Amino acid sequence: MLDKIKEINTEIEQFKIDTKEQLEAFRLAFISKKGKVSTLFDDFKNVANEEKKLVGQELNKLKNLAQQRFDSLAETLQNNSSSSADASLDLSLPPVPHELGTRHPITLVKERIIQVFERMGFNVSDGPEIEDDWHNFSALNFPENHPAREMQDTFFIEKNPDMILRTHTSNVQVRVMEQGKLPIRSIMPGRVYRNEAISARAHCMFHQVEGLYIDENVSFSDLKNTIYHFVKELFGKDVTVRFRPSFFPFTEPSAEIDISCLICKGAGCNMCKHSGWVEIGGCGMVDPNVLENCKIDSTKYSGFAFGMGVERITNLKYQIRDLRLFTENDIRFLRQFTSAE
Ligand code: DAH
Repeated sequence: MLDKIKEINTEIEQFKIDTKEQLEAFRLAFISKKGKVSTLFDDFKNVANEEKKLVGQELNKLKNLAQQRFDSLAETLQNNSSSSADASLDLSLPPVPHELGTRHPITLVKERIIQVFERMGFNVSDGPEIEDDWHNFSALNFPENHPAREMQDTFFIEKNPDMILRTHTSNVQVRVMEQGKLPIRSIMPGRVYRNEAISARAHCMFHQVEGLYIDENVSFSDLKNTIYHFVKELFGKDVTVRFRPSFFPFTEPSAEIDISCLICKGAGCNMCKHSGWVEIGGCGMVDPNVLENCKIDSTKYSGFAFGMGVERITNLKYQIRDLRLFTENDIRFLRQFTSAE
């Protein structure tokens, strides 16, 4: 029996493996229940009593050896196979480029405008792009069949002429006022639609940000200071603002907001048609009729409103001369914009 143990001991020590199959052969030969070591344990009962102690010790040693050898062979095999996997990696290959997208210039400018007004305490309101006549026109003091409606070429929904694509974000002003929670200090960014032929200077879809401030004793000087602050924040301290009398059905008095030309600083150039000024939007004191239409007491409350085109401001900020660039998805154009500054 002791000879047999010695023989198997040598066999175990000399066993070489290179493959998983050989490792399995080792397991079957020396570790499994039908392997050589187990068979010796089966034969143990035939060993003479006086030899049992010694043979038993040797048998246990053999069993441990078989297990240790199996573990170390398995480990070696594992290491070899992972190092051969490494060899199949070509570390000199250039990496797959991880391209970062950029945000659309309209989004950047819109977010910047929102940020400036949020710092002044305005919140952001949203409303539907498919709107009824009341919220887009009537509540805003556009009388029926009044030529004022022609200021804004409208897309009508064929099946229901009362429904239109909103021509301005002023519809959200009406919706916020109708909620009746006063005071109101809110801006309304969003997409608007007008029936215009698409060209470098006009598009049938564009973006506006409107603002509305309603409280007791709101005056035109509050409006002027809000716009002054906004312009300086967005365009820089050197830019000057002027208010030019104008007309909108929903504000009285109304004004156009001009800023000094960013290119020639007021001296006159192509961008400002040699006037030194460029228009960025409209504004005014909310017409009392509009307040009453929205169930707000116009003897107690007053307010101002303003609206500006996001494309217009983006064009001025980045000197973009063709509106179509915003919707053509030309990656060479879009890649140039990484921040709002
Ligand atoms: N809704 C006007 C437009 O689309 C812009 C505008 C002007 C909005 C004056 C206002 C405002 O809120 O007070 O042309």
